[in-house]
Amino acid sequence: MHPIIIVHGGAGDIPESRVQGKLDGVKLAVAIGHKILEQGGSALDAVEAAVVSMEKDEYFNAGYGSVLNLRGEVEMEASIMCGKDLNVGAVTLVKDFMHPISIAHKVLTDSPHSLIGGEGAKLFALEKGFPTVPHESLISANAKSALEEFLQSGEFGRTEIGTKNEGGVGTVGAVAVDARGHVAVATSTGGMSGKVVGRIGDTPQIGSGTYADDNIGGVSTTGHGESILKYCLAHSIIKLMEGGEDANTATRNAVTGMTSRLKNTAGAITLSKDGDVGIHFSSQRMAWAYIKNDQIFYGINQNQVLKESFTSI
Ligand code: GLY
Repeated sequence: MHPIIIVHGGAGDIPESRVQGKLDGVKLAVAIGHKILEQGGSALDAVEAAVVSMEKDEYFNAGYGSVLNLRGEVEMEASIMCGKDLNVGAVTLVKDFMHPISIAHKVLTDSPHSLIGGEGAKLFALEKGFPTVPHESLISANAKSALEEFLQSGEFGRTEIGTKNEGGVGTVGAVAVDARGHVAVATSTGGMSGKVVGRIGDTPQIGSGTYADDNIGGVSTTGHGESILKYCLAHSIIKLMEGGEDANTATRNAVTGMTSRLKNTAGAITLSKDGDVGIHFSSQRMAWAYIKNDQIFYGINQNQVLKESFTSI
């Protein structure tokens, strides 16, 4: 099996001013994950590293740059899944750590539980040696202005950050198949701007934000969380593939099905167990990238596929 990784940087009405930063960020993230796979690393380690790269980047709604709840705080969520044994790790309502995806990975490897939230997630992370960071150090200027804009308009719009005008950041995710044929998926988010304190979205919920199964493939989703979780979007795509649809058809059918039923937008990236790629989004934009045959493929607009030759970083 030739290993492969695909990443996304969030679906939404992304303004032009954020396009280049997001494209640069997904290209870097996929290159980091690709390097791990090429060196014989596991799909789990590759997807975690790709997501960590985007959690550091203020162009994305995850880690530093996460959007803010109504109290002006960051409350982050992440999940990771191993397709070999269907093992999962997820965290929610995380406030004081830079990399929720790494805590989620630790839940997968070191906890008898699957999803840990709030104070419990903090205690778990501290026990496992994750360093805390000052809460303010996670808050970007863009996240502050998105909350101000939300408070003025007072309505949740079509984008995952809650307003119609400022969709500049997005949930992040990665899907990989390693040389041993194991599938892994990781997804991380700050949720939606102006959410109530304690709101939990799709990203930490297995089957909604994330799903991986070595017998079928893997999916990471992004977009309107309340819709994605009602539709169990990631698992819906997996079920369509199990029924015989290819990765791209299944991704398109489930995303358009969710949007037509629930009138909100989403996006998803998919790999079949054989490394076939699926990408679809019903929002205006979604940044994505993957590497295949020494070429990097990437895009952000509808029907856009850009291509460059790729040399490992
Ligand atoms: N899809 C991210 C969220 O709505 O929380």
